Amino acid sequence: MRRAKISIIGAGNVGATTAHWCAAAELGDVVLVDIPQTEDMPKGKALDLMQSSPVMGFDSNIVGTTSYADTADSDVVVITAGIPRKPGMSRDDLLATNAKIMTSVCEEIKKTSPNAVVIVVSNPLDAMVQQAKKVTGFPAARVLGQAGVLDTARYRTFLAMELGVSVEDVSALLMGGHGDTMVPIPSCTSVGGIPILQLIDAARLEEIVDRTRKGGAEIVSLLKTGSAYYAPAAATSQMVEAIVRDKKRLIPCAAYCDKEYGVGGYYVGVPVILGTGGVEKIVELKLTDDEQVAFQKSIDAVKELVSTMATLV
Ligand code: APR
Repeated sequence: MRRAKISIIGAGNVGATTAHWCAAAELGDVVLVDIPQTEDMPKGKALDLMQSSPVMGFDSNIVGTTSYADTADSDVVVITAGIPRKPGMSRDDLLATNAKIMTSVCEEIKKTSPNAVVIVVSNPLDAMVQQAKKVTGFPAARVLGQAGVLDTARYRTFLAMELGVSVEDVSALLMGGHGDTMVPIPSCTSVGGIPILQLIDAARLEEIVDRTRKGGAEIVSLLKTGSAYYAPAAATSQMVEAIVRDKKRLIPCAAYCDKEYGVGGYYVGVPVILGTGGVEKIVELKLTDDEQVAFQKSIDAVKELVSTMATLV
């Protein structure tokens, strides 16, 4: 059977960790790409990862490169290229630099992997994924962003810590942009099937949501030299798995919403069904009035970010 080909652009912390987990789970063969200025760094990381394979027991092939020719005809392309946040920086501070990087990466992908599903991870996510769609010209279903799985994972972790239960029993949903305006959906959050508001009072739940919203910044302030990468890479690997194994996972992703939720042509975090074709369906929930107001606020923040980006690239 032909193995899936997964190219990961940006061989830094998020990219290399995603490569590690994709390879270890034998999701396919992995190509790790970085800029020529990094010289042999991606080759070194790929070789190091390959040498973990006899111990870990996986047969994926991992190649490091600075040439897009090696990525030709990828099934999935993950874009982590860009600069990460430093303490005191918001995701939006990355906007101008990462938009230019995203443009140059997508021009290459468009030529070398015209049939790929593209997962954007670089921040500020909601703007970067919009730029990726514009530059590649790929159908909306094949360009999506990683944010919701990570945000929900952080939320599930905090809920499990609060209640002293297994993370496996916490099921949750957050929607909207990947930032301070993300929207919790308590009616879709439960622990062992029990609605969350029967276990935690509304005020405490809001504190946990607030910590989730600031989850990335909390890690940045602790790391001091960069931003989170284990959880972002795990979240990205789950999306890659859904695509290459056609799992039809129902998970939150940044998806292009036009008529859906009345968004009008922007990327926002919504529940989707993810399979080989990429976003195979956007699931439209009936939101409460409060959730609708919060979701609209989040959409407005994404629109503002995208219009700022348009003045910079
Ligand atoms: N093409 C390919 N790789 C590039 C390009 C480019 N045009 N420009 C930069 N890179 C590479 C850098 O050389 C670096 O190796 O992207 C890599 C980024 O790695 P890190 O600096 O370790 O950043 P990381 O923590 O992986 O975060 C990457 O993901 O979660 C987001 O906010 C985060 O936008 C950031 C991105």
